[in-house]
Amino acid sequence: MKSPCTALYPGTFDPITHGHTDLVSRAARVFDHVIVAIAESPHKTPFFSLEKRIELAASQLSDLDNIEIVGFSNLLVDFVQEKGARVIVRGLRAVSDFEYEFQLASMNRNLCEEVETMFLTPDERYGFISSTLVREVARLGGDVAQFVGPEIEQALQEQFRLTDGPNIAPVGIEPHSK
Ligand code: COA
Repeated sequence: MKSPCTALYPGTFDPITHGHTDLVSRAARVFDHVIVAIAESPHKTPFFSLEKRIELAASQLSDLDNIEIVGFSNLLVDFVQEKGARVIVRGLRAVSDFEYEFQLASMNRNLCEEVETMFLTPDERYGFISSTLVREVARLGGDVAQFVGPEIEQALQEQFRLTDGPNIAPVGIEPHSK
């Protein structure tokens, strides 16, 4: 009998967007088990804590039963092996992602020959989304409902209230008076 194939989808997920959930759903149809691995990524100074990013990801992925969501802070290939996975899944949204992803995959292969990286492409509707852009649009009072789930929208607003104070919407620039 064929042994089950576990894939690990790593990222910072700060926060998880519809682009990420679309990718997880696709991976969950291809692999027996998918581990959504949320990197601590201290070099990115994440907006949400690791615990909150895990909680938010769980709120978006509750309808998938062959997935698991975990945080990690060690070397990716070590974590992949620790979890008994054989494949790293990454998303390619546009050609511009390729160079970085190719470098990441090559580094990981050099660190661990047994682990393969596979790429999936998200739905074209989500090709331009990034967590940074979603945070910026939300911070300036824009509507992010088409990019993230309602739980994420609410968490963004709460977090901005905590960090920026209550009045974060931009004030219109007054016409120049003489
Ligand atoms: N839909 C929407 N956005 C997507 C997306 C998708 N399908 N796929 C990626 N993105 C966005 C992310 O939101 C993120 O945007 P941001 O930078 O604006 O936040 C951006 O693309 C980068 O992707 P992300 O998945 O967050 O990856 P990352 O570059 O932050 O992290 C890790 C990459 C976690 C895999 C890497 O840092 C890692 O392996 N860390 C562990 C330590 C390690 O082993 N390092 C050596 C690696 S060789």
